[in-house]
Amino acid sequence: MPTPTAAEQFDPRNPRFTADRFALLAQMRAESPVTFLPALHVYAVTRWQEVRDVLGDSVTFASSEAFSAGVHLAPEALAIYPLTSLLFAYNLINVDKPLHKRLRDPLMTAFSPKRIASLTPTVIADVEDLLDSVAASGDQTDLLPTFCRPLPLRTICRLLGVPLADAERLSGWSDALIAFQTPGLPTPVQVGAAHGLRALENYVRERIAEKTARPDDGLISALVAGRIAGENDLSEDELVADIAIVFFAGHETTINTLANAFHSLLNERDQWADIVSGTVDADNLTDELLRHDTSVMGLYRRAAVDTVIGGVPVPQGATLWVSYAAANRDPAKFDAPEALQCPRENARQHLTFGSGAHYCVGPLLARLQVREAITRAAKRFPEMRLVPGAAVPEIPHHGLRAPTTVPVLLKYKERPA
Ligand code: HEM
Repeated sequence: MPTPTAAEQFDPRNPRFTADRFALLAQMRAESPVTFLPALHVYAVTRWQEVRDVLGDSVTFASSEAFSAGVHLAPEALAIYPLTSLLFAYNLINVDKPLHKRLRDPLMTAFSPKRIASLTPTVIADVEDLLDSVAASGDQTDLLPTFCRPLPLRTICRLLGVPLADAERLSGWSDALIAFQTPGLPTPVQVGAAHGLRALENYVRERIAEKTARPDDGLISALVAGRIAGENDLSEDELVADIAIVFFAGHETTINTLANAFHSLLNERDQWADIVSGTVDADNLTDELLRHDTSVMGLYRRAAVDTVIGGVPVPQGATLWVSYAAANRDPAKFDAPEALQCPRENARQHLTFGSGAHYCVGPLLARLQVREAITRAAKRFPEMRLVPGAAVPEIPHHGLRAPTTVPVLLKYKERPA
């Protein structure tokens, strides 16, 4: 029997995918800029230049219904949450202009650098507070539930102006957007996820009513105030979708990035030692971690016409899976791309936040959290080590890189010879 190709093995159910998906991406990228993935029925775009070109041309490579194209749901779940519902119909990454512009412009206004700067002291205080709890937990902990997860959840709640106590249930509901993209989930799980999206919609609607009556200085209030003042003409459904998508996109991505970053850094003792001694450029390190360890492996586009990408024909209607992670490790763009290297002069040219019309709205906030979390953790726990030999399963998902645990020893001591 012929050995399966890299494209055939790029399937979360395949052991080689689980063992090293970057090796599969590297093989595909070396062979061609575009590769058809039979398990996912998509054309993967893997080279930096072609990824940027595709993201930069939102007319030929449309986002409309591209995200929902990856959804495979049982009729029971679709009956509860059809793909015409507002978290798909008004989801920024699932629409094109003019609707995309309508939904995005108000967010960009509300996401002002001033608002993010005003969150900086709170993010730093949250980092230190969580590190206090980690320190109190003993010699060993799992950084995922104790640090990587609560930090972005606190940040996103503070940004929006919703109670921290609601964070976990909101996260549970919005996880449905990931579940909807995961092939082969049992029907009861899909049905639960569909109910979750309905609950998320209802929750956001209640908060909009609350902020209309009693405004505060959070992002929901800013969007509501803009609507009342006629600065945006979002309908209530569009507003609900924008807020729910910010909640979703603004926490899972950062949680997983932090978890990946700790795994990489703790395997690179020299880099960790440099942070401890304060000899790294923390901003450059942050971008290098974002390049090397992005949690969003890739997202979708749809070819609006018959087209050609890097010399490879792609038919009209085809779904593209545009891989930011593969682009970030393209040797034509980054020297020794598989290595985590700081300083790296062009680290900031990663495509972790996408590019073009759908460029992420949250890079300032994401960079702030990664920088403060990593540098402060290293200073508080200079001897931190990954627990030797611990199994680190990842969520079996082609679009996400998300370890399910970050087990560490806080005060590691070399064993005497
Ligand atoms: C390390 C963390 C993050 C990563 C890796 C990330 C990644 C991305 C990527 C790749 C896109 C582009 C989607 C596309 O090309 O279709 C995107 C869009 C988006 N991101 Fe982020 N993101 C992060 C953090 C955040 C944060 C903190 C927020 C908000 C607080 C946020 C909100 C959004 C929104 C609303 C969009 C949709 C933009 C549009 O379609 O116009 N993200 N993000």
